Amino acid sequence: VIKMNELDLSGKRVLIRADLNVPVKDGKVTSDARILASLPTIEAALAQGAKVMVTSHLGRPTEGEYADEFSLQPVVDYLAAKLSAPVRLAKDYLNGVEVAAGELVVLENVRFNKGEKKDDETLSKQYAALCDVFVMDAFGTAHRAQASTHGVAKFAPVACAGPLLSAELEALGKALDNPARPMVAVVGGSKVSTKLTVLESLSKIADQLVVGGGISNTFVAAAGHNVGKSLYEPDLIPEAKRLMESCDIPLATDVRTAPEFSETAPATVKLVSQVTDNEEILDLGDESAQRLADILKNAKTIIWNGPVGVFEFENFRRGTEIVARAIAESDAFSIAGGGDTLAAIDLFGIKDQISYISTGGGAFLEFVEGKTLPAVAMLEQRAKG
Ligand code: 3PG
Repeated sequence: VIKMNELDLSGKRVLIRADLNVPVKDGKVTSDARILASLPTIEAALAQGAKVMVTSHLGRPTEGEYADEFSLQPVVDYLAAKLSAPVRLAKDYLNGVEVAAGELVVLENVRFNKGEKKDDETLSKQYAALCDVFVMDAFGTAHRAQASTHGVAKFAPVACAGPLLSAELEALGKALDNPARPMVAVVGGSKVSTKLTVLESLSKIADQLVVGGGISNTFVAAAGHNVGKSLYEPDLIPEAKRLMESCDIPLATDVRTAPEFSETAPATVKLVSQVTDNEEILDLGDESAQRLADILKNAKTIIWNGPVGVFEFENFRRGTEIVARAIAESDAFSIAGGGDTLAAIDLFGIKDQISYISTGGGAFLEFVEGKTLPAVAMLEQRAKG
């Protein structure tokens, strides 16, 4: 694909599609990770003297309808405070917008436009007409074939990949295509069903596949243990068994249980073979977490998505903390993605010790699954001419 830094942007109308879909509360951005990741792209275009427009979706508004709570205004306020360039929000832009060189215009939430999610051709052409160069930099939305990610890339005079998108693809490629070994994947989260394809594809690549959270309970049950009231999916036990036959999946030997799923429930550490009907597994025990930590410390490549226990509850945080710190301390090329994973990384303050933190949630998982990201496929098609 063509990369943004290969182009001369000076004096050009440049439209950057970023993923600025960040959490907002009371009109303020509450997690700026995605904006920070997009800033270098915006700054590079401004520094070249381009007429820069940036756009994104935010949340999931009813399509085609304006709603204050989904406005990009909080993002604009954040950018205005960070950048030395003047920044303004354009609400009405589909028929053209005036942008001065060195100025940043943020185009309001693309999901306020009818046809955005359907990848509507008319809308895609309207976006395309706004610019001389379209920069696709929204890795987090690259799995969506929508007008502002995919359609516009088809019709813009020039369509290229932004530096963030390029960096994400490179980091994921490094971890998945020919990884330094041993390669260890950590997949946590509540359900096997939502991550089955990810587990399948990682089971073929990884030397060891660490499962955690509710996912691990299904594997523990598949190994013949009673999981009591734990969250697990009995229907997926055959899948879990099949995965265990084809890949080394280290199972918990001890666990932390609670009488109920609650922030204040006391934790009991016990052998996985001793879980009773009246309790649920909410975290790994220390022995299991330590064994996983040893595996992770020796890894050369680590892919991490999902916490291994209910880390939001202080009493059930230890397993995720031990695993997270082991990933941080490992010399491996480590890559982490997904909202809960990033929250855990923030909580334990280990951000600088992870080699690459992806801005993608769904996009990260789809890439790991080996799926084609439609917006990237379109850039490839355009590059071929
Ligand atoms: C995300 O947060 O994963 C992306 O911004 C995509 O958002 P969406 O799932 O609403 O398309």
